[in-house]
Amino acid sequence: MELIIAPDSRAIATIVADAIAALLDRKPDAVLGVATGSSPLAIYDELATRYAAGAISLAGARAFMLDEYVGLAADHPQRYRNVIETEFAGRVDIDPANVQGPDGLAADIPAACAAYEQAIVDAGGVDVQILGIGTDGHIAFNEPGSSLASRTRIKTLTVQTRQDNARFFDGDLEQVPTHCLTQGLATIMSARHLVLVATGLAKAEAVHHMVEGSVSAMWPATILQHHPHATVLVDEAAASRLQ
Ligand code: F6R
Repeated sequence: MELIIAPDSRAIATIVADAIAALLDRKPDAVLGVATGSSPLAIYDELATRYAAGAISLAGARAFMLDEYVGLAADHPQRYRNVIETEFAGRVDIDPANVQGPDGLAADIPAACAAYEQAIVDAGGVDVQILGIGTDGHIAFNEPGSSLASRTRIKTLTVQTRQDNARFFDGDLEQVPTHCLTQGLATIMSARHLVLVATGLAKAEAVHHMVEGSVSAMWPATILQHHPHATVLVDEAAASRLQ
């Protein structure tokens, strides 16, 4: 695992955008793995700025989302497909048809999860996967206790994660969905390069476990220790519990 401690989220975003730009240079039809939440926002801002300046193009690229809430209406602003459109896809030239996520409105959820896994395989796998980390060490929505061998499936969100995400729902916990579809830990581990971003003191304990703890389903992000090419980018606050 490669650990980079950078001054702030803008500095982190520059490093990640440089890596994505280099990938797009050598592989214009690169497959990106995109996360929602606060952590990747500076990266999406940086990619949008570079696209507006004519420095990069994602016209040939594809993107796969990590996760999706179950049951949010198609036009709900917090539906992750809509969040990704607003924060990332709609600000660059990626073809909207080439941005895919698990279908949180599917009638047959197991079939939708299997189809999503197949779509990632059919695209040749993910070249670079952007990740955030939950305060409880989750990645995507693989909460503590998730199988290290898991694939895309339905999961129950913990109260902790629902509380963490209530800020996106007017601070109202009742509005936060109780279930999600999420890539599994094994799905994420199939990506060729993992890039995990964490800033702020609230992430310090999870970062400590991820980097220095034993690999355990109770801290799902520790699985990154088994990835041959994982880059963790943190600010000083998120790094403050590292020994
Ligand atoms: C979202 C996701 C989650 C977040 C995590 C951190 O697609 O996969 O694992 O990355 O909950 O969220 P933020 O970045 O909002 O602190």
